[in-house]
Amino acid sequence: MSKVTVVGAGAVGATCANVMACREVASEVVLIDIKEGLSEGKMLDMYQCSTLMDFDTKLVGATNDYKRSANSDVVVITSGIPRKPGMTREELIGTNAEIMKGVIAQIVRYSPRAIVIVVANPMDTLTYLALKASGLPKHRVFGMGGALDSSRFKCYLAKATGANINNIDGMVIGGHGDTTMIPLLSKASVNGVPVTQFASKKKLAEAVANTMVGGATLTKLIGTSAWYAPGAAASMMVESILHDQKKLIPCSCYLDGEYGEHDLCIGVPAVIGRKGIEKIVELDLTKEEAEKFAASAAAVRKTNQVLHEIKAI
Ligand code: 2OP
Repeated sequence: MSKVTVVGAGAVGATCANVMACREVASEVVLIDIKEGLSEGKMLDMYQCSTLMDFDTKLVGATNDYKRSANSDVVVITSGIPRKPGMTREELIGTNAEIMKGVIAQIVRYSPRAIVIVVANPMDTLTYLALKASGLPKHRVFGMGGALDSSRFKCYLAKATGANINNIDGMVIGGHGDTTMIPLLSKASVNGVPVTQFASKKKLAEAVANTMVGGATLTKLIGTSAWYAPGAAASMMVESILHDQKKLIPCSCYLDGEYGEHDLCIGVPAVIGRKGIEKIVELDLTKEEAEKFAASAAAVRKTNQVLHEIKAI
């Protein structure tokens, strides 16, 4: 028996719940939202897919009732306002930090043993806030960003190389921001063969640039933030936890000396299993990548500073 709560029944949260239901990632999925009836309605709609899609997951919708989330094994936090076209993820901090604090208090109260995955933006900073506000150990609070950015990177690499998308290996580390993420071209491959053997430098540079603005491109097209891949990425992380898959997933982890950084959450590859973050893997970065990582950490730290300015921590 396993239970997951998703906080926020917007597009990302509902998609995450839907993917988890269809894949039977957990025995029970609870969706919580402040808007009256929204989560109940979405979960009822999802439940009515059971026989059509052949799944048997208990689905519960609850308007602001955290009692229904009690004893969750994993909680995914998507609640907060999404960005509009032209906005950066960082601009959401004031509103979303307040929301995060309220949500964290409820999670700690009703699910003190849960592993928490933060999806809301600015993700690295809100993960840091969730960790500090919850008092939970660092291996049980981490953020979804790198998994999504890496998935986008693989799509653009598949286009650039012409290779099968499922043969592509690629990883994005650093902050989950348009200018802070670092798609690692040096480690990208087509089934182990370096991508440089399949595409020109120019095409690969374009794949990197497109990845970095991947979220902004979608926001411009759709008019609001994306949801299919963000929801699926969060579900993939929950699955790695509950099924103890120990997948190596780039995600926002609290660093305490790893990569030469302290006291911030930022994207690095980590082994994700039943205990949460089971190991942070330190990559052998090129000089240029290491410099970019340091600059990314400085930018994330600057956004974290706002938490003090607005007295969120
Ligand atoms: C994105 O990049 C929601 O931050 C998320 O689409």
